[in-house]
Amino acid sequence: MRKILCIGAGYVGGPTMAVIAKHCPQYEVRVVDMNADRVAAWNSDQLPIYEPGLKDVIDIARGRNLFFLTDETIAEQIDWADIIFVSVNTPTKAFGLGAGRAADLQFWEKTARQILQHATSPKIIIEKSTLPVRTAEAMSHILNTNSIGVQFDVLSNPEFLAEGSAIRDLEEPDRVLIGGHNTPSGQRAIETIVELYANWVPREKIITTNLWSSELSKLVANAFLAQRISSINAISALCEKTEADVEEVAFAIGTDKRIGPHFLRASVGFGGSCFKKDILNLVYICEQQGLPEVAEYWQQVLKMNEYQGARFVANMVHSMFNSLSGKRIALFGAAFKANTSDTRESPALVVCRELLEERADVVLCDPHALENARQDLDEQAEKVNFVADPYQAAKGAHAIAILTEWAHFANLDYHQIYNSMAHPAFIFDGRNILDHQALFKLGFNVYPIGKAPLQHFNHGRTW
Ligand code: UDX
Ligand code: UDX
Repeated sequence: MRKILCIGAGYVGGPTMAVIAKHCPQYEVRVVDMNADRVAAWNSDQLPIYEPGLKDVIDIARGRNLFFLTDETIAEQIDWADIIFVSVNTPTKAFGLGAGRAADLQFWEKTARQILQHATSPKIIIEKSTLPVRTAEAMSHILNTNSIGVQFDVLSNPEFLAEGSAIRDLEEPDRVLIGGHNTPSGQRAIETIVELYANWVPREKIITTNLWSSELSKLVANAFLAQRISSINAISALCEKTEADVEEVAFAIGTDKRIGPHFLRASVGFGGSCFKKDILNLVYICEQQGLPEVAEYWQQVLKMNEYQGARFVANMVHSMFNSLSGKRIALFGAAFKANTSDTRESPALVVCRELLEERADVVLCDPHALENARQDLDEQAEKVNFVADPYQAAKGAHAIAILTEWAHFANLDYHQIYNSMAHPAFIFDGRNILDHQALFKLGFNVYPIGKAPLQHFNHGRTW
């Protein structure tokens, strides 16, 4: 039986190992994490992350060939394993050289050193965390300094799953990317991991490259996806000025096969743990390599995203007679996108913080993400009302802002909601999921993204 260890049971490590264990009963998969509460949650019915289909996969594999453990026994686990996935977090560095941009590799390096300390037999070490290009080289240096002659093959196998669709993305990936050294043992290591994925992924979808191409491809994939959103969001601003409709524009351009229809939904901005972090990292690497023009080009994707959030809030302020002070505002959505409880870099929290600055009376409403939102907002949380029920959240509110595209927000009884609100009632649809004409007919003043607003009074917009 092959023995797989994963270090880090987060959004990536947990679901990925669950799917591997499900499809590969002939492998034993152990996942360790330093966070004991998280491990306890993985071993309970209340999994630590909300992800459609995850529970079913866990139910099949957990206790059979999938085990979640705290890292107290990490020494023993490292020595036991043949294959070690490293899926610890690599946040943006908050201090020192490259602060605010470079990736903080302290957890990765600590993990590499633990592996070095405890391994007594050859291992394949796999980078699952997104890392700056050529990190694997540094890791190889650390690992292969050992005096006991143990062979370590470092591979890069970036994860492309998106939250909310993690299980589907893992079950039917567009591709699996495996990068390794072009040496006999590097190639053998690649083949071992190709065989692992080939248990359920068609071989033609498993791409093998050199190590650096694999590491860079992950950053570039995220940068391209984010760039598309910033591009359509830039156009949404122009649509609002010209009365073009951004959805019509997106559809019209997306039918061109060369452009394609995906990731062209204009929104209040992109969030999530990856896009911003990975672009900052790409920018930093470009600067380090003496490519300031390239760095600036990608930086602009982030600038546009910040602009979109700020523009959304400015629109709320101007539309509501230049003052939000003391007004109850219901924010529908805290998660950075639908079908996840994750609030990392959520545009909803950006809007929430700015509305607090405006001294609005903010009510945050989300079916799964309120607890994470409360933690992320930290001391500002005490100024926010957390209400899971949208009808309660909207009661007495002057405005609603849709910030996450949860499907059920589109299916509420807005007639009832309108009647319970302060009037004139405003609705700002930061995700374009509502029926704007129907809301307008109910009496709402409606402000979509990238479309002309529907107002019951002539407002003389200044934005
Ligand atoms: C992580 C990386 O942040 C990202 O760059 C990569 O693309 C995928 O893996 P994610 O799984 O979302 O993303 O991170 P997170 O949910 O924070 O999980 C990391 C886990 O590692 C945490 O549960 C943390 O407790 C654990 N960890 C971290 C360890 O067990 N040991 C450590 O030394 C550090
Ligand atoms: C992303 C990548 O898609 C995934 O391949 C990578 O492994 C991790 O980063 P994720 O952050 O989970 O995944 O979500 P994604 O679906 O990409 O959405 C990111 C953000 O962009 C969300 O805030 C989402 O609401 C927003 N978005 C997405 C838009 O605003 N418009 C779109 O058209 C698509």
